[in-house]
Amino acid sequence: MAESMMGMKRSHRCAEVTEAQIGSKVTLMGWVQKSRNKGGIVFVDLRDRSGIMQLIFENGSIDEEGFEKAGKLRSEFVIAVTGTVEKRSGAVNTNLKTGTMEVRVEYLRVLAEAETPPFPIEENSKTKEELRLKYRYLDLRRPDIQRNLMMRSKVCTLTRAFMADEGFVEIETPMLGKSTPEGARDYLVPSRVHPGSFYALPQSPQLFKQLLMCSGYDRYIQIARCFRDEDLRADRQPEFTQIDMELSFVDVDDVIDVNERLLAHLFKEVLDVDVPLPIQRMPWQEAMDRFGSDKPDLRFGMELTNVSDTVKDVEFAVFKNALELKDGSVRGINAKGQGAMPRKKIDKLVEFAKGYGAKGLAYIAIQEDGTVKSSFAKFMTEEQMASLIQAMGGENGDLLLFAADRNKIVWNVLGALRLKLAEELGMLDKGEYRFVWITEFPLLEWSDEENRFMAMHHPFTMPMEEDWAKIDSDPGAVRAKAYDIVLNGCEIGGGSVRIHQNDIQEKMFEVLGFTKEQAWEQFSFLLSAFKYGVPPHAGLAYGLDRLVMLMAQEDSIRDVIAFPKVKDASCMMTEAPAPVDEKQLLELEIAHVAPEKAE
Ligand code: AMO
Ligand code: AMP
Repeated sequence: MAESMMGMKRSHRCAEVTEAQIGSKVTLMGWVQKSRNKGGIVFVDLRDRSGIMQLIFENGSIDEEGFEKAGKLRSEFVIAVTGTVEKRSGAVNTNLKTGTMEVRVEYLRVLAEAETPPFPIEENSKTKEELRLKYRYLDLRRPDIQRNLMMRSKVCTLTRAFMADEGFVEIETPMLGKSTPEGARDYLVPSRVHPGSFYALPQSPQLFKQLLMCSGYDRYIQIARCFRDEDLRADRQPEFTQIDMELSFVDVDDVIDVNERLLAHLFKEVLDVDVPLPIQRMPWQEAMDRFGSDKPDLRFGMELTNVSDTVKDVEFAVFKNALELKDGSVRGINAKGQGAMPRKKIDKLVEFAKGYGAKGLAYIAIQEDGTVKSSFAKFMTEEQMASLIQAMGGENGDLLLFAADRNKIVWNVLGALRLKLAEELGMLDKGEYRFVWITEFPLLEWSDEENRFMAMHHPFTMPMEEDWAKIDSDPGAVRAKAYDIVLNGCEIGGGSVRIHQNDIQEKMFEVLGFTKEQAWEQFSFLLSAFKYGVPPHAGLAYGLDRLVMLMAQEDSIRDVIAFPKVKDASCMMTEAPAPVDEKQLLELEIAHVAPEKAE
């Protein structure tokens, strides 16, 4: 039977009790982690969000009725106890903050009984994630996830305070907005008052924060929820949170400066990790050439080498065909010391590469005795083989892997392979934090699907002045004043200087294939606001979930979000999304139409 708390007041959280309290009385409340009944004596581990305190119930220190109740305690019962802090009678538990102490209970109340949970509440749970997410309220009791969410809270609090000190104003922007083209797919919300019309949930507060700059707020920050109907991954959720900011009268260096100091502050306060400033900057082209990725993981080397020149006369169709392509190249990576990798494992790497768009993966495995096993040796003279190995810095015992294709594919394949090898070879230390700014992104990216240029960041990104002259002759070569902040191979944030000149913005829309009318139709409020005095401005947004994921050394942002969605964007616990009443649909004048009937 559940008892009330009346007359009892919690004095401490379990693990907030220190040895200084030995001899004094405390009142603790929490969940029974486990209980052991040893005849005349009952031990209980009491858990709350701070940790665990061992309780000891002994006939004599507690009355008969209390002792009997203690003997019936089971996991996840909620209890309140009053007792005296003592030095542990038994062995000290060095794994616990409170491992030298116990509380000798004099008074016990059972505040709630509990059924046996569907899985044990424990750190590093081995229970399948689906089951844990179905009972997320139980999963959230686990100490590791509680630490993650408390860390997340601390990051938010510190960010708000730091940014306030820097003169940023926190302003909320609407959730119900207008669908605009570009970017990911929108989540739409039907309007009851305007049947047939829809709001879109924001993919980011981008346009609103630019308008706030037009309105003179100067420095804006918001911890903002964003919605994107994308395919989910470990670091992608349909709704996620940004630390979003925008600044007026600034250029790239100003945005980078305040953000480096913010990051250093967060890492120091939360993890006691020193982030050396300034953070390294790397132009996009260099990142692609050296790491095959615009979010390079700098915790290890294994850089890409362009060997197109070295192999230009080799009679190997795979290489020759690639070099004949526009933007074609042959590049390789050197997996040091992996020359003895068994053929089966190499074949697995080839399959992996194919998953990233490669047609194959050519390799040279240099044995310890200097002999060479290669998938294309028969097409090479001995000199050609020697010079290729030399170009790759190959030594006895190395494994050289090559991709030949369009640059985009070669980068994608080798970039992914590099990471996979590093992971398999245990080269990645989650406790090491390597930051890098990626700068000078291309302004535009050709889309084969759409058969037009698309904005790489978004259509409001400022081109680099020195490249602007090429916007008609060679749009793909124009670089942007855009920057990403990358941590351990993860894009934790991105932003840009914005276009604030109407002529450049109009030209940008033209290049993206909008007519002037279409541009005005879609973005009239922004373009109109720009007519009434717009300051130069720039901004950035962090993926808060990703940042906290890395700080907590987790592999998925689901582990730092209280109620995340699973791969198919559904919630295991609430079972959202779900069908709604016909009546609701009628009110919205919405009918569900199967695709085959929609013709
Ligand atoms: P961007 O689209 O790069 O920029 O988003 C900023 C950061 O948000 C994170 N992020 C995500 N995190 C989890 N799940 C997702 N689906 C997801 N999508 C993005 C990433 C990313 O770096 N308005 C611009 C910012 C600006 O220009 O100021 C923007 O939204 O960490
Ligand atoms: P093939 O002549 O197609 O049997 O290929 C010989 C070797 O080249 C095999 O190891 C293939 O995996 C590899 N290969 C094929 N296509 C490519 C490519 N585009 N880039 C790199 N290696 C490739």
